[in-house]
Amino acid sequence: MNDASPFARKVRVAAAERGLDRGIELVRLNPHERGAELVAANPLSKVPTLVAADGTAHVDSLAICIYLDTLGTGLRLVPLDGRDGFAALQRHALADGATDAAVLRRVESQKSAVPDRLEWMERQRHTIGRVLDRFEATVAGFGATMAIDTVALACLLAYLDFRFPADGWRGGRPELARWYEQFAARPSFLATRFPE
Ligand code: BEZ
Repeated sequence: MNDASPFARKVRVAAAERGLDRGIELVRLNPHERGAELVAANPLSKVPTLVAADGTAHVDSLAICIYLDTLGTGLRLVPLDGRDGFAALQRHALADGATDAAVLRRVESQKSAVPDRLEWMERQRHTIGRVLDRFEATVAGFGATMAIDTVALACLLAYLDFRFPADGWRGGRPELARWYEQFAARPSFLATRFPE
């Protein structure tokens, strides 16, 4: 895993919320280096990757969270049935898609500035903004719900603070900002903070 990855953080928050974090050994690495250990477990060389006690490698943050739901006894975080469950999965997909856009934008921002690239990064910024506007309009109904969609949304917002503080995502989104302040106080979220 990598301390800067919002997808790894989502899995770590989910594990902590289900009381499983102490049973998971964290191996910190840079996925871009394509190290032999990571590639052997996950040919995509992506974090998070979870290797279970029986040696099975679980890849993809949502798939890992579904796997974590099969362990322990806590509240399940990934609802897999019913209208509410499908709505939560849709919200999770929006938050995850915007997180993908943010990570791609971050990777591009590390390269030299050429007009095509700047335009492409702007497109990612607008995509993220559209998703945040959707959540601004709907977040009042979330309350203190703890599920995969709210974990993914909180990790997205934290990642934007971490990598794109100048965006000021809170501007014009008071409901989202209020909701985030409450979520961010959770022990699972505080314990998985992005590096300074
Ligand atoms: C980052 O440094 O922003 C980052 C690192 C690993 C995965 C995703 C993002």
